Amino acid sequence: MILARTRAEVREWVAAQRREGQRTALVPTMGSLHEGHLSLVGIGAACGPVCLSIFVNPLQFGPNEDFSRYPRDLEGDLELARSAGVSLVFAPSVEEMYPGGEPWVSIVPDRGADVLCGRSRPGHFRGVLTVVAKLLNICTPDVAVFGRKDYQQLTLIRRMVSDLDMAINVVAGPIVREPDGLAMSSRNRYLSASDRQSALALVRALDRCERLFEGGERDPELFRQLLGNSVDPGVSVEYGEVMDPETLESTSRVAQGTLCAIAARVGATRLIDNHLLGSGSPLASI
Ligand code: PAJ
Repeated sequence: MILARTRAEVREWVAAQRREGQRTALVPTMGSLHEGHLSLVGIGAACGPVCLSIFVNPLQFGPNEDFSRYPRDLEGDLELARSAGVSLVFAPSVEEMYPGGEPWVSIVPDRGADVLCGRSRPGHFRGVLTVVAKLLNICTPDVAVFGRKDYQQLTLIRRMVSDLDMAINVVAGPIVREPDGLAMSSRNRYLSASDRQSALALVRALDRCERLFEGGERDPELFRQLLGNSVDPGVSVEYGEVMDPETLESTSRVAQGTLCAIAARVGATRLIDNHLLGSGSPLASI
């Protein structure tokens, strides 16, 4: 496995793959890798050699967010990436990615970024789309793999790729969960033992929504209430939304495939999770 620190090294590697007739896959991450990230590597490997990027992107963090304390563990990540079969890890510095400092030109979504996470994180998706566009331009992969765990991010990346005619196939991976159902996240390591228990309220609320749907309920307000009323005193729900999975617009009628999305603070940690109704219990996949 190659560790590349510069854009030039990645370009060289990609050119060498092309010469050998290989298609390549890109899995962008911010590191602190877990099974959720590694599942995306497995999906990418079906296409060809995988480039995994590790970059904690300052542009997508707000001034009061956790950029400086975001967990970083390059040594551990390299070990996991190697065992997952990654061919090249791209781990650039901030200066390598933004040599001129704050970019003059960035990618600002006109729709779909003022709801869900975008509401409490202004500028977040501009930061995400800008860095993802840069990574796609540096790695020029045939396939780029993203997780459904960050559903709004996945939707906006799909839209960017399609609206800007990028010749890349975006592939989505399912949400990987801990044995008790908590969606895996690098931020889970912030949780204290009691917060870790409280955090299960998110997936339990999504599971209750699925059972409500399977029982025939179609009134979105009941689903919103269910998501908004966390029964755990350690959990403060930021949003519990029921939306069209394509347009991310609030829906007035629940149907097969409707998106239920939840964000909550558990102690000081902000967690998100989601579920597409009618796809079986989110707890069934574990
Ligand atoms: P990060 O949070 O490190 O996530 C990297 C990728 O892993 C994303 O596509 C995310 O959806 C996916 N992922 C995270 N947890 C997952 C889980 N439990 N199951 C399945 N997939 C999971 O998302 C980012 O980084 C950044 O915003 C990035 C796209 C790299 C841009 O900086």
